[in-house]
Amino acid sequence: MRYELPEELMRTDRSNALKPVKIGILGLGTVGGGTVNVLTRNAGEIARRAGRHIEIGAACARDLGRKRSCDTSGFRLVSDPFALVEDPDIDVVVELIGGVSPAKELILNAIEHHKHVVTANKALVAIHGNELFDAAQRQGVVVAFEAAVAGGISIIKAIREGLAGNRIESLAGIINGTGNYILTSMRDQGTTFAGALAEAQKLGYAEEDPTFDIEGIDAAHKLTILAAIAFGIPLQFDRVYTEGISGITIDDIRQAEELGYRVKHLGIAKRNGELIELRVHPTLIPYRRLIANVDGIMNAVLVNGDAVGPTLHYGAGAGADPTASSVVADIVDVVRALTTDPNNRVPHLAFQADAISHIPVAHPDEFETAYFLSMEAIDRPGVLAEVTRIFGELNISIEAILQKEPVATQRAHVIILTQRTREKNMNEALRKLEQLDSILGRVNRIRVEHLSYSAHDA
Ligand code: NDP
Ligand code: HSE
Repeated sequence: MRYELPEELMRTDRSNALKPVKIGILGLGTVGGGTVNVLTRNAGEIARRAGRHIEIGAACARDLGRKRSCDTSGFRLVSDPFALVEDPDIDVVVELIGGVSPAKELILNAIEHHKHVVTANKALVAIHGNELFDAAQRQGVVVAFEAAVAGGISIIKAIREGLAGNRIESLAGIINGTGNYILTSMRDQGTTFAGALAEAQKLGYAEEDPTFDIEGIDAAHKLTILAAIAFGIPLQFDRVYTEGISGITIDDIRQAEELGYRVKHLGIAKRNGELIELRVHPTLIPYRRLIANVDGIMNAVLVNGDAVGPTLHYGAGAGADPTASSVVADIVDVVRALTTDPNNRVPHLAFQADAISHIPVAHPDEFETAYFLSMEAIDRPGVLAEVTRIFGELNISIEAILQKEPVATQRAHVIILTQRTREKNMNEALRKLEQLDSILGRVNRIRVEHLSYSAHDA
């Protein structure tokens, strides 16, 4: 499948001169389908970052007749994953099958054939990562695994690169989306454990064997990976103390709430003197903590470094597109490594220098937000009507209006919450309001942003 680059890039693009990188995708389920969709939808932006076209050469699934969540018409569909890995036309192998076998053999085979690998397989990395990375190092290739931990959050990159100057003291994370979805549904909707799990499975969040999610095994896989990167220790899944959430009842959740706590399933890795604690278990967290308010399928990892202090990394922890976001980021990293000057692998401004596009920056008049307005008004009949008439004329909808009765003066305090409107309209409204005899002095304005971007934080 070949993607079109934006016209400005087609003209100047040095990536045009290079052959597209061909990727082979093993697995077309939740994450595989999402990866095809994201690569297709964002092809132009991705190529401008990577410096080269990325093409899906082939993809592999067991049942070639199954209906897919993505368009498969632009690439070869095969059922033999080994043939795909060994296909000389495929430059990069993306493993999204899951489980240990045949995923491990496939990745080792790809490495043997000097191919870079991208995987979302935390079980495999946690248990066999040491062996896979040794093999990759010997062959001079990369095994990238950002999607293996916390879905769409770039937590591997954050710890490995962004926090590289710190001695990491501890980390604590909600790192299983299915478990968090179940606990949130039980608390907010009174859903039964089984009902919430069935819903998470239907949405593609749960592992093939959902006991991995509810008994903490999946979180332990992820904690193993995070701890290795944070503390520079080997991957040691068998040393993680693991308790699941299957014993948690709605009563436990309610009683914890009464005491001011939320029940969350946490993975914790922390220094304890000369030792490292590695544990996964249900945990009571004071409800005021940010991480106690991470709900639904969302994940969050709190990393505490000696220099930076606590940092909280938040985002969707599972699902097709969020996980694909991390898979594609790894593909872009690999393609940059294959393509660009080794001393300048990541462009300074993320996009290749010749792919910067000059999208105009909006004039403040074009901004669109809701507004909180507060003003002093003379306390006499008809004032509110004058005020609301101005909003009506400018097509600004009022969300709420509050008038505080004057205590000792003749001045009423009026507060108005509006719906979203153009800044230009609001400036005009403020100008007209301030011209009214009944409005005293300036109208104070504070912009309102609801910041609710996603349906994932159920
Ligand atoms: P799915 O079960 O949805 O998809 C697995 C895919 O692999 C299917 O297309 C299946 O084919 C194919 N497959 C399985 N075995 C073989 C085989 N032997 N040969 C060829 N194809 C095979 O899994 P997910 O997409 O949910 O998960 C994939 C990986 O991503 C796992 O490692 C998982 O832990 C990880 N992950 C998943 C997340 C999620 O939200 N789901 C988030 C983060 C990571 P067919 O469809 O024909 O059966
Ligand atoms: N089953 C996993 C979860 C998928 O629910 O978190 C993401 O790794």
